[in-house]
Amino acid sequence: MNKYLLLIGLLIISGVDAKDKFKVDKETGLILDNGFAIVKANCTACHSAALVTQNRMSRETWLETIRWMQKSQGLWPLNKNEPIILDYLAKHYNLTDTGRRKSIPDHLMPIKEE
Ligand code: HEC
Repeated sequence: MNKYLLLIGLLIISGVDAKDKFKVDKETGLILDNGFAIVKANCTACHSAALVTQNRMSRETWLETIRWMQKSQGLWPLNKNEPIILDYLAKHYNLTDTGRRKSIPDHLMPIKEE
């Protein structure tokens, strides 16, 4: 009985996973949320948005990456857009956020027939 309750719980948790609420921009693959347009305008001019979407960094490391591009790659000052960009990146492309729910543990999977 407990196993079923746990399974139902897991299904509910995965159903309300915040990830599911966000759509992805078809052109860039960037998640559509606050700051998307600013990120698209500032972060896809020199390279593919895939460099952004395939990376996972803490807010601090995103800032370091931005500073590195500003120092050596010709990225312009982001001024008041910087915190908006960092909020967006730290929210959607952070280390702890793999973009997927955890796998269902083996003991909760359907019984395999041998
Ligand atoms: C002025 C050009 C330019 C702009 C604008 C730009 N970048 Fe970059 N970025 C680069 C270059 C050049 C590289 C190195 C590409 C390579 O290694 O092939 C790079 C690399 C990266 C990398 C990979 C870093 C690594 O350690 O491998 C990430 C992530 C990244 N950029 C994110 C961003 C984000 C986020 C923005 C928007 C704030 C942005 N870029 C805007 C020029 C730019």
